[in-house]
Amino acid sequence: MSDFDSSQWTDSEFSQEYRTYANDYLPDRFKLIEIVKSFFKHFIHTVDAPRVLDLGCGDGLVMHQLLKNDDRIRATLVDGFSEMLESAKKRLADFDTVQFVQATFQDLLEDDRLPSNFDFIVSSFAIHHLEMKEKQALYQYIYHHLSTDGFFLNLDVVLAPYQDLEQWYLSLWREWINANVDSSKKPELLPIPQQYKDNPDNFPDTLSAQLEALQAIGFKNVDCFYKYGIFTIFGGKR
Ligand SMILES: C[S@@+](CC[C@H](N)C(=O)[O-])C[C@H]1O[C@@H](n2cnc3c(N)ncnc32)[C@H](O)[C@@H]1O
Repeated sequence: MSDFDSSQWTDSEFSQEYRTYANDYLPDRFKLIEIVKSFFKHFIHTVDAPRVLDLGCGDGLVMHQLLKNDDRIRATLVDGFSEMLESAKKRLADFDTVQFVQATFQDLLEDDRLPSNFDFIVSSFAIHHLEMKEKQALYQYIYHHLSTDGFFLNLDVVLAPYQDLEQWYLSLWREWINANVDSSKKPELLPIPQQYKDNPDNFPDTLSAQLEALQAIGFKNVDCFYKYGIFTIFGGKR
């Protein structure tokens, strides 16, 4: 079982380092967010005052990008770590229709405290911190918290299904860092790809296992909407 309280995500320094360096080492982070925005615009924009939930929101970057395009959004941001939520609050200070909930995914599963009528649920680089059984439970939770025709998108790293592919995917990632990052930062950032499995807080599962889990729960229109090495966006509709 994953344990948020003993994970690095409750360490101020680690959490701050993520906020400082994520743009440098997550390949094409803003391109991925553009895809989420495009998806939202295409499928959800016609909903009046859409309710949007971000699970594991970090410093609120994804919700901020959505709100800048559509300020009718009624946003709920959930994260287990108070300092992440404080950063998100600062980032979203100009928006009124935003709620912040400090809770781990495990807390939500044990003691639900969210409404069940979201039009769009998004999560970015957070669900791979759960083991497969917990992912399945969270996907079920997400399904039950979507309105009819509401969509879930997970932007996340996945486990490569074969070792030779994994080696290629990780070298793609290192090549991206090499090409996009200042030389001074490379010694610190180049070891990060290896952490996707080696870090004990990470439990990536294959894309196919997660698509099957969504289908088994009842999600419709399940698909992978983007993939580059281990970086994916996938999801489905209630
Ligand atoms: C890699 S960061 C991603 C943050 C943000 N979504 C983004 O894309 O920048 C992972 C986030 O998930 C949160 N997190 C990790 N495990 C969690 C859990 N079990 N319950 C709630 N939040 C969790 C961490 O506190 C952190 O903010």
